[in-house]
Amino acid sequence: MEIAVIGSSMVDLIAYTDEVPKAGETLEAKEFQMGCGGKGANQAVAAAKLGAEVIMMARVGDDAFADNTISNFQSYGVNTDLVEKVAGVSSGVAPIWVDKDSQNRILIIPGANKHLFPADIDQASERLKGCALLVLQLEIPLETVYHAIDFGNANGIPVILNPAPATIELDLDYACRSDFFVPNETELEILTSMPVSGLDDIRAASQTLLAKGLKNLIVTLGDKGALWLRGDEETQVDAPVVSAVDTTGAGDAFIGCFAHSYANDGDVHQALERAVIYASHSVTGKGTQASYASSEEFAALI
Ligand code: RIB
Repeated sequence: MEIAVIGSSMVDLIAYTDEVPKAGETLEAKEFQMGCGGKGANQAVAAAKLGAEVIMMARVGDDAFADNTISNFQSYGVNTDLVEKVAGVSSGVAPIWVDKDSQNRILIIPGANKHLFPADIDQASERLKGCALLVLQLEIPLETVYHAIDFGNANGIPVILNPAPATIELDLDYACRSDFFVPNETELEILTSMPVSGLDDIRAASQTLLAKGLKNLIVTLGDKGALWLRGDEETQVDAPVVSAVDTTGAGDAFIGCFAHSYANDGDVHQALERAVIYASHSVTGKGTQASYASSEEFAALI
């Protein structure tokens, strides 16, 4: 039951700081951490840490970060047969600021991530056809995301689309061809241009997507858990109370855990319950992949 993550990898440069500098200002931060990140890579690693068989399809640059990124995947058991270096470009890099309220601000410089093309999916089609689940985000070209959705649909492979970072350029008709569309509240607001300040708002915004034929919409709600909407039905899963130190990559932890659990047994409700716990736990540690629990740690949590 292999999961294919077709997406991004970045090098995260994380500054922990009480204040974020204003224009023209220089401030001293408390701590710095460098780690492997990128939404696709984080989701792949989260699933792999939980014991999933994962193949990553990604592009890295021809710089000092590339080999480290590939060996990082391998250290977690993620298959890197479809991770390739692109000559003449940098690897993706993400400067991140985490403030005293454990909230993050992220800039991404996509670099090689922009070089994963629809034709690359065609070229890897025989390998990808054997996968049980495709997992996508929006840090690679949108045309590649659309092609991957078409590929999943044509081959009967369920597709999870995490529309992050949200962009109004996303074709929602295409996005709604995914089997699971998983935005957070902010992403839902940007994508639908509708307010999301309470559950009723979220339901109304969600209806615009469900009306397009979307089968499953899962809205992640941060410390309030997640809401799963399909047809006229909805299910809310509450999150455990935790003490957050760094929320970076919590959404990716959610997707990785959901993918692993769903690929295992097809039980969406259980996958949601697990993903909420897994993501909540991830905010209690610093960094992205480093903060994700192993399968043993997770077993103790649930
Ligand atoms: O979701 C968190 C991730 O967003 C970070 O790892 C960063 O690389 C950006 O892609």
